[in-house]
Formats: sequence, C-alpha cells, structure tokens
Amino acid sequence: MVEIVPSILSADFAHLADEIARVERGGARILHLDVMDGHFVPNLTIGPPVVQSVRNITRLQLDVHLMIEHPDRYAAAFVRAGANSVSVHYEACRHLDATLGMIRNEGALAGIVLNPATPVAVLEDVLEVADYVLLMSVNPGFGGQKLIPYVLEKVRKLDRLRREKKLALPIEIDGGVHLDNLGDVVRAGCDWIVTGSAIFHSSDPEATVREMRERAAQAIAVKV
Ligand code: DX5
Ligand code: ZN
Repeated sequence: MVEIVPSILSADFAHLADEIARVERGGARILHLDVMDGHFVPNLTIGPPVVQSVRNITRLQLDVHLMIEHPDRYAAAFVRAGANSVSVHYEACRHLDATLGMIRNEGALAGIVLNPATPVAVLEDVLEVADYVLLMSVNPGFGGQKLIPYVLEKVRKLDRLRREKKLALPIEIDGGVHLDNLGDVVRAGCDWIVTGSAIFHSSDPEATVREMRERAAQAIAVKV
C-alpha cells in the first residue's frame, strides 16, 4: 500500500493542529516530522517537546526524520515523545547497527536515510536490521526543492535488492515530490512518499492529499 506522508516542515506551525487535521481528513495515515540541528544540515527545526504535543492531538503514525549529528544521543527521546518510526542518516552514524537496535529496543521502527550522493550499495548487509529505508531525493535541509532525477534509479536498485533478499521493508522518498512526478516515484518502487510544500502550500491540503492518494493508486494499477 502506497502512503502519502505529509511533512509538517511546510505547515503553519502557529496552527499545527488544524493543519494536521486537514491532511488526516484527506486520508493521510503517516505524518513526517523533520528534525534539524543546524550542524548536519544548515537549518533548525523541532525537538521532542513538539513531537510530544503532536502526539497529544493525533493517532497518525509519527515518522521522525533525524537530520542531526549524534542521532544515537537523541533518538530515544523522540521515541519517548511519541514517535512510531525514527530514521537516522547513514552519514551521521558511526555505529549504525547499534543505533538501529537502540531505536527498535525503545519500541519504534528504525529507518536508515541516505543522502542523494550516498550509494544504495552501502545498505547491502545492514538491510536486515532496518525496518524501512528513506532515500533523500533532495539535499536535506529545506522544503520546496527540486527532485534529483538520479534518485529514482536508486529506488529501482533498492527495490531489486529487497526482492533479492526477500525483505518487505518499505522504501520512503523525501523531497521534491508533487502531483506531476508522483506517478514516476510510485512506479520506481516507493511505498511512503513524503511531501511537504506540495501539500501545505496548496490552497486545499485536504483535497491535495486525497488527489495524491488517488494518483498513487492509479500508478500502482498501471504498474501491475
Ligand atoms: C527536507 C525534508 C523534507 C521536506 C520535503 O530536508 O527532509 O521532509 O519537508 O519538502 P518538499 O516536499 O517541499 O520537498
Ligand atoms: Zn524529511
């Protein structure tokens, strides 16, 4: 099942509960929360208290994307704040296996994120201890960027790799996805499709999520 995953990075933080209610009405089942520390990426966003506040107002799966140095020091705090899935960058983890194990032990799904320039090949041996993989389709740090086309080839490679290993782990994509390229992203093999500005900067986020869900379902129907 392909999921449209709204990223609140482009939402109006002064009216976050209303923004979340809109995408929930549109059919979203997962919500993406971007955590940035001003070191791993040149931007700052939210910490565990905001995740906790969001947890209090929704039952959606909270998918936390850590764009921070030393994710091993902070991941547990996000799970305790209510995150259901937490992803850490391969590029930020010195002991990736241990960090993934810690997230799982805390009770959340553990995801590995790759920057656009990091090859899928680095996942070959660690795939079994991850619950999902997030492939960045922009350089992380900001919403509203253009999707980097070569990332779709990475999605196809990862799709082949998971089939070879008989693993069902979801492939997530993040950055630059909008209505016009959604079909390509789905056909490449993505399951969780993060999209921020295309939803929250649209005039009707609820209708946009609904339309994206329909468009994704049509793309799958064509694929098989
Ligand atoms: C970028 C973030 C994304 C961002 C995507 O570093 O990880 O989640 O919100 O935004 P759009 O969909 O606008 O590219
Ligand atoms: Zn993200």
